[in-house]
Amino acid sequence: MPHILVKSCEQNANKEFEAGEYKFQKLGVSTQTTDCLIVVSFRDTEFVLIQKKKNNGTLIKFDKTTRVLPIEIIKNAIKCFASYHRLEILFSNIQTNKQPTTKQSSIVDMREFEHSKIFDEIQKKYKNISMEVGFGSGRHIVHIATTNPDTMYIGVEIHTASIKQLDNQIQKQNIKNILIAHCDARQLLSIVPDNYLGDIYVHFPVPWDDKPHRRVINSEFIDQSIRTLKKLGRLNLRTDSENYYKSSKLLFDRYDDTNTVLNTDIEVSSKYEDRWKKMKKNIYDMTLVNQNEDIFAECGYDFVFLGIINYKNVCDVIKTKKILYEDHFLSFGFMSNIDEQTSMFALTMGAFDRPTKRYLLLKNGVLRYFQNKPIATKENIKAHKNLLKVLYDD
Ligand SMILES: C[S@@+](CC[C@H](N)C(=O)[O-])C[C@H]1O[C@@H](n2cnc3c(N)ncnc32)[C@H](O)[C@@H]1O
Repeated sequence: MPHILVKSCEQNANKEFEAGEYKFQKLGVSTQTTDCLIVVSFRDTEFVLIQKKKNNGTLIKFDKTTRVLPIEIIKNAIKCFASYHRLEILFSNIQTNKQPTTKQSSIVDMREFEHSKIFDEIQKKYKNISMEVGFGSGRHIVHIATTNPDTMYIGVEIHTASIKQLDNQIQKQNIKNILIAHCDARQLLSIVPDNYLGDIYVHFPVPWDDKPHRRVINSEFIDQSIRTLKKLGRLNLRTDSENYYKSSKLLFDRYDDTNTVLNTDIEVSSKYEDRWKKMKKNIYDMTLVNQNEDIFAECGYDFVFLGIINYKNVCDVIKTKKILYEDHFLSFGFMSNIDEQTSMFALTMGAFDRPTKRYLLLKNGVLRYFQNKPIATKENIKAHKNLLKVLYDD
């Protein structure tokens, strides 16, 4: 992450200034550390820099709790901050002089999905949106995208070489309707909005016959598929593994009776499929059709705080540091007092294996998430509800 080490830097609280397109507001020093938060506004985004005292100087670094892309926006902000204050730079990992530009590549990572409005933007442009999990060589996703130009396809993959290969094909063929998500499909699916997808394709997933708990398709994946698929949307599994087929069928059948078709040809055959066909293996095709529209009642959960909150209550809650629940948690970080009526504190919340970090701003007793609300995963919703309990119940 971009940062600079400078000889010294004053910790003037509440100092507001502008440099180029950047607006900076320095907040008071945090109550638990000597860190000073600097809120930066650039065009329509906001993010935070941290000024941290070190033995050998003062570090100015980006706080990755607040995400902003492209990274040049942050690098330039740190440079503007340093030149405005005429800081003596002892070390810098910022070399670029590039001006912020719009990102061109089709590859998007998990954090970008979490912290931007990318799902809304896709939905504004495309009526139909589908997803392919583990696209591998990309043959299938390229075929369906080029034959259905009105549908946006989100291809999810964890293997970097496959991602680069597909990205090259997208650039070469100038394909506009594929977005590559470089992340674990199970995590991405958990943050896809409700009733969003037309089809989910899972073709030849790794069978994991010796470690079935590692399979992409598990009970949570099916629940998330049902939540994210539109009514009559389909989860399509194609596999050569009889074990995978049998275990998935048990899960699919919880929602609906599923039909299996054996050894049908589809319009395009992937590298794996060619291999299995040569070996004369059976190929199982199974489809789960979503018959439910509102299966998850939490659709559009808004993460709001209702009513005026007592400042002392907030301080008491922050002192508890961490509250653990069965499948989620709340962890409170340092607090910065901006003035007598305004404070900001750090919060980590949600699932143990994919925690969400946010800042909360308390102003005149009204609390809100700074920059972005958490994504509405099951665990984040539970964590937020428990936060309301601990903040308001005492
Ligand atoms: C056996 S290959 C099949 C590739 C392609 N679907 C085909 O039919 O040729 C399985 C692919 O799933 C990807 N994969 C495995 N686990 C994944 C996960 N959790 N999320 C996204 N992709 C995953 C692997 O990297 C691999 O490319």
